[in-house]
Amino acid sequence: MSDVQLVWSNKHLPLLASGVSSYEWVQPTDSRRVAVSKIEPLSSGPLSTNSNVLAIGDGLDVLEALKANTSVMDSGIRLVYIDPPFNTQVNFRQYSDSMQRPMWLSMMRDRLEALRPMLAEDASVWVHLDDSEVHRARAVMDEVFGEDAFVASVIWQKKTTRDSRAAFSSNHDTILVYAPSGPKKWKTSRNLLAKEDTHLRNRDDDPRGPWADAPFTAPGYRKAQQYKIVTPTGQLLTPPRGRSWYATEQTFLDLLADGRIWFPKGGDGSPRLKLFANQLRGLVPFTVWGATDTGTNDDAKRHLMALFPEIDVFDTPKPESLLERIIHIGTNAGELVVDIFGGSGTTAAVAHKMGRRWVVAERNSQTTLDFLLPRLQRVIDGTDAGGVTEVASWCGGGSFEVIVVPPRVGIRSNQDNEKVIRQKLIAHSKARKQIEIHKETFFATV
Ligand SMILES: C[S@@+](CC[C@H](N)C(=O)[O-])C[C@H]1O[C@@H](n2cnc3c(N)ncnc32)[C@H](O)[C@@H]1O
Repeated sequence: MSDVQLVWSNKHLPLLASGVSSYEWVQPTDSRRVAVSKIEPLSSGPLSTNSNVLAIGDGLDVLEALKANTSVMDSGIRLVYIDPPFNTQVNFRQYSDSMQRPMWLSMMRDRLEALRPMLAEDASVWVHLDDSEVHRARAVMDEVFGEDAFVASVIWQKKTTRDSRAAFSSNHDTILVYAPSGPKKWKTSRNLLAKEDTHLRNRDDDPRGPWADAPFTAPGYRKAQQYKIVTPTGQLLTPPRGRSWYATEQTFLDLLADGRIWFPKGGDGSPRLKLFANQLRGLVPFTVWGATDTGTNDDAKRHLMALFPEIDVFDTPKPESLLERIIHIGTNAGELVVDIFGGSGTTAAVAHKMGRRWVVAERNSQTTLDFLLPRLQRVIDGTDAGGVTEVASWCGGGSFEVIVVPPRVGIRSNQDNEKVIRQKLIAHSKARKQIEIHKETFFATV
């Protein structure tokens, strides 16, 4: 446990999600605390270790219900990405973002604590925030996962336009990254970024294909790597001052004999090591992520407006390119990605397009009806051409189950919405069946 901890009022009290959008402090002895919500399926498929799940309900209630009643979480979560309300004290069209600070802190702590035992050994947890609470959230994450689990705070450039009325025009969010196994261990299983700008050419018609090149030197003085190299034009070279050759003389001679040393300037320049595509390491991610690589909030809104031109756009969506990078770094195909603040469904959509399993919870049934459900149906149908569809070479397929996890306290979310969602799911599965039958008839006749 850390020597220094953040203190807030009612920190010792359990906080339960209550009704559609609020929370309630309860006494530690309150029986509702231990009661796990039941799961009400809206779609017809069974919940299994292979299911993708869209849950309507509070994220904590959903986690506990899935853990207690299903095998959905049994594989262990490889990546958690959450983008909770930042507590900006502003209200958005789709959700309120003004909580009392103690409540917000307990809300975050309880969800992170519930996630911790469900994590796989090499998991990472990414929490997306802005300056409203990020420094306090980091103290909470230190408390839940331990200070040694801290990996990085990623600065994401969320916009490229300037607010000329503000003292500073804030154009970034912070994403806190923790790995319970610690950064050293996690580093051995996380993925590097692709080297897109590496220029491969075949300047000597090497039958092994095109190659990039790197200097055949290393920093510092190493005795075994100080020798003379003769260039093809007959020049005698020694390493530059303060450096050594990249390898010992015998290794150099072996590489030379294997055609893996290149002398530029028509054979007169210093030796370079040839590197073929399969030898190039990826890039270690920086902690500052620019809009060109990972998109902006406006890019995300444009994508949603193209998908749903008839409704008001979701206020705070994140771009698919941002999630694509996070999911790429933190997971491999088939592994489980969890987001318990679903919003417009970016995490689920990208996880699906990238062939990962996913569980997403969203408390607001209207948001689920307007965005999450239709967006994911379009991903499955292969009719969402935006976001990272092309990067992920996605053309449709797969499935997901929809469940409701009613609140333990207070009245449940809008049941009319749930009815409509169920009808839409039935209509969708019928339409899909028709397509399948049609496909079979078509293929049978050709
Ligand atoms: C910032 S938005 C997430 C946006 C999302 N990352 C996207 O790209 O669209 C936060 C979402 O969390 C939902 N939410 C708030 N509290 C919740 C809770 N306790 N459980 C589940 N969802 C919650 C809100 O309704 C809102 O849709």
